[in-house]
Amino acid sequence: MLGQNSVLGVLGAGTMGLGIAQIALQRGHRVVLFDSQTEKRDQASAKLRASLGRLVEKKAMTSQDLEEALGRFTAGTDLTPFRDADFVIEAIVENREAKCAIFGDLENVISDRCIVGTNTSSLSITSLSSNCRVPTRFLGVHFFNPAPVMALVEIIPGIHTDAETVANVRSLIDSWGKTTVVANDTPGFIVNRIARPFYGEALRIYEEGIADHVTIDWAMREFGEFRMGPFELMDFIGNDVNFKVTETIFEAFYYEPRYRPSLLQKRLVEANLLGLKTKRGFYDYRPGAIATEPRRDLTLGRAIFYRVLAMLINEASDALMLGVATAEDLDLAMTKGVNYPKGLLRWADELGSTNIYQELERLYHYYGEDRYRPSPLLKKLAQTGDRFFLAVQA
Ligand SMILES: NC(=O)c1ccc[n+]([C@@H]2O[C@H](COP(=O)([O-])OP(=O)(O)OC[C@H]3O[C@@H](n4cnc5c(N)ncnc54)[C@H](O)[C@@H]3O)[C@@H](O)[C@H]2O)c1
Repeated sequence: MLGQNSVLGVLGAGTMGLGIAQIALQRGHRVVLFDSQTEKRDQASAKLRASLGRLVEKKAMTSQDLEEALGRFTAGTDLTPFRDADFVIEAIVENREAKCAIFGDLENVISDRCIVGTNTSSLSITSLSSNCRVPTRFLGVHFFNPAPVMALVEIIPGIHTDAETVANVRSLIDSWGKTTVVANDTPGFIVNRIARPFYGEALRIYEEGIADHVTIDWAMREFGEFRMGPFELMDFIGNDVNFKVTETIFEAFYYEPRYRPSLLQKRLVEANLLGLKTKRGFYDYRPGAIATEPRRDLTLGRAIFYRVLAMLINEASDALMLGVATAEDLDLAMTKGVNYPKGLLRWADELGSTNIYQELERLYHYYGEDRYRPSPLLKKLAQTGDRFFLAVQA
C-alpha cells in the first residue's frame, strides 16, 4: 500500500512535474526527480525553494518544514534513484514516443511493486501502457495547473490497469487533500471533454454575430455565475493551447461535430493573438487599451447563457450515458477542476431536463446540424420526468 513513507518519483521538471513534486514534499514524501535537460534538473531545487518559500511567507509552513522538505528531494542525472520509488508520476513532454521510451528505461530500474502514472492530458492511457512490461500497474493521474493549487485529480485506468492499483493511488492522492474522480480512458477524460462547449458554443454565437465576446462573457458571469467568461478564459489559458486541446479532441473522436474547432480562434492563433501572454487575444491587454462595454440586454444575456449551458449539460449527459464516469464524479470534476458554480447534472435537475432538452431540440431544428442533437439520456429523462441523480440511483 502506498502511504506517507512511500517514495515518489517524478519524471519531468517542467510546470507540472515541479508542481507534483511540491505537493508530495509538502505531504512528507521523499521525492526523486529526473529531467533530460541539465539546466531543468539544476534549477529544480531552487524553483521548489521559491514556491515553498511563498508558503512560508503566507505562514502556511515554517522555514524548518521547508528545509526538511528540500532535504527529502533529489534531482538525479539518470534514473538510478528511481529504484527506491514506490510510485512514479511522469510529466514530460506530451509526445507518445518520448513517453513510451522513458517508460521502457524506467521499467529497467524500478521494482516490480512500483506503480507508474502518467500526467498526460490527451494521450490514451491504454496506448501508453501497452508498451510497458507490466501494464497492470500503469494508469493516468491527471493533475490540473497549477497542481499545488487545483483540487482535482482525474484518475484514469487503462484497459490493463488492475483495480488494486486504482484504489491504491486514489487513496494516496485523497490523503494529499485532493479531490479524485475516476474517468474512463476516452479523449479529454472528463474536464477537457465536457468543458468543450463552454468555448465552442460561445465562439459559435460570436461567429454568428448574435453578440460580441464582451457581451457573451458578461452573460455567462451574470446569469451563470461563472467566475470568468469563455473569452476571458481562452485568453487566460492561451488561444494556442485551448485551440490545440479542441482540435485534438475533435480528431480523437473521429471528427465529431460537437467538438469542431472554431476558424475564428484558429485565425487568432495564426495572428499570434494568443491572449494574456501576448498582450492581445480576444481582448486587448496593452497599456492604454480601451475596454468595450457589454450590451447589457437581459433577454439576450439569458438566451446566450441558456444556450451554452444546454450544450454543456448535453455533453455531461452523454458522458454519463457512455460510462465516462459516475454522475457524482462528473459533477465533482467540473466544480473542482474548472470551478463551475454547480455540477452540470445537478444544474439540469434544478432547471428541469425537459427544458434543457427543448432548448437543444430548438437549436437542432433551427440549424439542422448534428452538433445540436440531444443526448439520448437527456431525452429519456425529459420524457419520464426523472432526474439525473435519482435516475442513476434507481
Ligand atoms: N501545463 C498544463 O497546464 C498541463 C496540465 C495537465 C497536464 N499536463 C501534461 O503534463 C505533462 C507535462 O506538461 P508541462 O506543462 O509540465 O510541460 P513542460 O514543458 O513545462 O515540462 C516538460 C519537461 O519535461 C522534460 N522532458 C522532455 N522530454 C523528456 C524526456 N524524454 N525525459 C525527461 N524529461 C523530459 C523537459 O525538459 C521539461 O522540463 C504533459 O504530458 C502535459 O500534457 C500539462
